[in-house]
Amino acid sequence: MLRTLRSVWRFRRFELDADLRRLQGVADVEDLRELARRRLPSGVFDYIDGAAEDEITAARNEEGFVALELRPRILRDVSAVEVGAEILGRPAAMPLVLAPTGFSRMAHSQGELAVARAAQRAGVPYTLSTLSTRSIEEAAAAAPEARLWFQVYVWRDRGLVEEMLQRARESGYEAIVITVDTAVLGRRERDVSSGFSLPPRLGLGTLVEGALHPGWTLDFLRGGPIEFANVAGRGTGPGGGAVALAEYVNAQFDAALSWRDLDWFRERWDGPIVLKGVQTVDDAVLAAEAGVDAVALSNHGGRQLDGAPPPVELIEPVREAIEDRLEIYCDGGVRRGSDVVKALALGADAVMVGRAYLYALAAAGESGVDWVLDFLRSGTARTLALCGLRGVDEIEPSLVRWRTPRC
Ligand code: GLV
Repeated sequence: MLRTLRSVWRFRRFELDADLRRLQGVADVEDLRELARRRLPSGVFDYIDGAAEDEITAARNEEGFVALELRPRILRDVSAVEVGAEILGRPAAMPLVLAPTGFSRMAHSQGELAVARAAQRAGVPYTLSTLSTRSIEEAAAAAPEARLWFQVYVWRDRGLVEEMLQRARESGYEAIVITVDTAVLGRRERDVSSGFSLPPRLGLGTLVEGALHPGWTLDFLRGGPIEFANVAGRGTGPGGGAVALAEYVNAQFDAALSWRDLDWFRERWDGPIVLKGVQTVDDAVLAAEAGVDAVALSNHGGRQLDGAPPPVELIEPVREAIEDRLEIYCDGGVRRGSDVVKALALGADAVMVGRAYLYALAAAGESGVDWVLDFLRSGTARTLALCGLRGVDEIEPSLVRWRTPRC
């Protein structure tokens, strides 16, 4: 009896590192999301997880991938599978870019620095947000070998934008990503209900929330005050008081931005330009005519216009319209390697992920980001193998079809 028992008896090694210990039970991005939900005060979790109005577009982003079916081929020798790809003419370890996300230190005190280092290790580009909580220079110093891109929100104060472009160039950033879906901020109703503000303010409710989430609270207190690191000291931060993000964005961002302004950027940035927030075929064609290097089909993770189409549904018609003139990235709802393969089969060059790595950062810090990048890489490799493909260059449009009726 003892022998039988011994033959089945398995104890997991006790992991000393708390982040790694937390990751032991994690199987996918949904598990990371659940860990993040438990670790973060509810207002912070809702800022990350939430989207605009009824959150219909956010849900459809994920449903878009579910509605696609893969058509695997068999008996094709997939003993060696390669997930490497070219992005902006340079090799990347997989066809994936880390999307810009604001205020990453809300998720974990290492914030953007942790994400930049994980991107460097994983060999994929990382896009630092204008609204980051670590500066352009700090991210570059933390990950000197990483491919760093800088996301630009167009401030009314163009001098400030020009200065940020110069700082990005001097710090070795490879590309800029101009986000064009934020003329005004979308109405994120979870933030309205929770009274979420930036920087976060401690009221009675937050004190209770803080006590209920001691791991996050200790880390947050150790991390130093949260500020808009790229504009700190220039009088454009929230000043003395906390503000709702919408109030801040609507006061500072230039709602008059138009296609003509792209020339202004071309004159000041000689590297690649990615236009992020393209949501129709017509605008992708205009972007190609305007001479940008790539379009990111994106509805800002459903955080701006509720009712906008899921980017995954736009890839095929956009590719058909612009042919090979530009690279196409797709963000919104990417949760697995199979989503990466589906996007590429429709004609994308790469996907962008935002929430997936923020959940990971909140769940288990830098180790969490390493984990999710490895999960997406290995999932991409496994999907390719199961589809009878040895590399992303073998992906063909016939690999996918839309299930009918579509959800
Ligand atoms: C910032 O870009 C946000 O979506 O909150």
